[in-house]
Amino acid sequence: MKNTVATFRAAKGKEKLSMVTAYDYSIACLLEETRINAILVGDSLGMVMLGYENTLSVTLDDMVHHTRAVSRGTKSPLLVADLPFLSYHTGVADCVKNAGRLIQEGHAEAVKLEGGVEFTNEIKALVRASIPVMGHLGLTPQSVHAFGGFKVQGKTIEQAQKVLDAARSLQDAGVFSIVLEGIPQSLGAKITAELEVPIIGIGAGVCDGQVLVWQDMLGISKRTPKFVKRFANLSVEIVAAVNDFAAAVEEGSFPKPEHCYSVENEAEIMSHLH
Ligand code: KIV
Repeated sequence: MKNTVATFRAAKGKEKLSMVTAYDYSIACLLEETRINAILVGDSLGMVMLGYENTLSVTLDDMVHHTRAVSRGTKSPLLVADLPFLSYHTGVADCVKNAGRLIQEGHAEAVKLEGGVEFTNEIKALVRASIPVMGHLGLTPQSVHAFGGFKVQGKTIEQAQKVLDAARSLQDAGVFSIVLEGIPQSLGAKITAELEVPIIGIGAGVCDGQVLVWQDMLGISKRTPKFVKRFANLSVEIVAAVNDFAAAVEEGSFPKPEHCYSVENEAEIMSHLH
């Protein structure tokens, strides 16, 4: 089944939605074989793929490049791409143009942007341009310096009210879904219950759906934040497999005849070489 923004909206209150990040073609091909509803080409790629300390150095060109790679490997999940830091902060026209690149060049089917009421004009303009928008509230990583670190948000009455009000205004502006990140589970549950659009949580408790970074959920990344469940421990398998390969090369047990090319008249050809 092809997942779209329409199937996303229709799932609210009926089916739970799952989304996972991807940044390249090979993982996208694997995800195509799964039951996942959406793939997010997140700007988390700056941290898990490029080794930056945060997402702020990720450029629009990075996002277009990785989104296009993912799009080549996947059809069924809804493909969402992040608008990176400063690609939608300098005005509505820049925002639409930059989001348009993710759609036209990256072949994304929707874009995600971080922030609340301050971006409702940008969201309305994107919706007017027929670009579906996923909101992102709570611990929004592009605000790491403003927050003074990666800190759980919505912990006071004032902060919680701000997140709730922002969610309402994003819905009014026309988002088809909202990611809630790093907030208390009670606030995640309240927003999920009140809003009509599906709420996708990451460290926000039980919502309409969940999103995880694939390196986190499959045990590739070094860090394991509290909200992550590791569904596999691939780093152990990868290190063991690469060590097995190195040992096989060293001891001469790889390659074997079945890994080698040969021709019928091999001896004759060899005898003519000088
Ligand atoms: O960039 C990302 O991967 C994200 C998810 C953590 C929601 O925004």
